[in-house]
Amino acid sequence: MLLVSKIWTQYGVTFPALPGHLLPESYAGSHAASTGRDLFIRYALRYAFGMTDTPESLFSPAVIRLAFEMPWKARNELERLLLLPLARMQFALAGVDWGADWRLYGLPIIQKHRRSRLHIGARLELRSTVRSNPLGPSHAVILSTREAESSLMIGDDFGMTGGSIVAALSVRIGSRVIVGADSTITDTDFHPLALTTRRTAPGANAPVIIEDDVFIGMHSLVLKGVTIGAGSVIGAGSVVTRSLPPGVVAAGNPAKIIREL
Ligand SMILES: CC(C)(COP(=O)(O)OP(=O)(O)OC[C@H]1O[C@@H](n2cnc3c(N)ncnc32)[C@H](O)[C@@H]1OP(=O)(O)O)[C@@H](O)C(=O)NCCC(=O)NCCS
Repeated sequence: MLLVSKIWTQYGVTFPALPGHLLPESYAGSHAASTGRDLFIRYALRYAFGMTDTPESLFSPAVIRLAFEMPWKARNELERLLLLPLARMQFALAGVDWGADWRLYGLPIIQKHRRSRLHIGARLELRSTVRSNPLGPSHAVILSTREAESSLMIGDDFGMTGGSIVAALSVRIGSRVIVGADSTITDTDFHPLALTTRRTAPGANAPVIIEDDVFIGMHSLVLKGVTIGAGSVIGAGSVVTRSLPPGVVAAGNPAKIIREL
């Protein structure tokens, strides 16, 4: 029962005090009637598909023009809307609260240890299908918490295309962080270095912190124990093995500061 109510909540169903279709008949033909009709369409879409997009945002002239000029985007949006119920259920079953105005292009892979913490803020944007980004991610976004004690906390306005975030201990990501296609952020080595235990024991872990407004270029690796300071930019294909201060551009393997912002 608890699970059912949890899933229901994930669908964003909050019953309004006065839904549009219940407005009194005396409102017919008035401005209020069109408001009522709009409300009805809005709630119908919401109940049927779990959509937070408004009819205006879906059928505005600007959107129709965009669909004509860049049809692959229309396809992506359609796919996104059709997948919404499934995506919401996926997060609900994983025990992750659905946030406001999330946009998921394709289904990510959520591997959450039941007892771990995985929280993501508002306006999440994950691109998991090859067509969802011209960089063509090689696999869906993977979010993984491996232990009961693991914690993966992500702020508002997070965007990521393909790639993986793996928390064995703690990965903390601030707000407005962008992660380019096929990047990996992990706080664990997965395997110890000692030969005798390499295949049997867990590897070394150290927390990763990515502060607000960081931009990580495509195909980068952010490894255990790293803090990337607010606003910094990581060049494409970098391997970040040491912490970086705020407000710098760093790149390479290992990533070194190439200039201040
Ligand atoms: C990091 C980046 C933003 C820097 O751009 P920039 O400020 O214009 O930097 P420049 O091209 O002037 O390069 C400055 C120096 O850094 C080096 N450099 C730049 N990017 C590098 C990278 N990814 N790896 C290694 N070195 C790099 C350049 O070779 C140059 O070195 P030099 O001074 O010895 O010649 C850019 O190079 C980059 O990686 N862009 C890709 C972003 C991305 O992945 N976007 C898609 C995801 S959404």
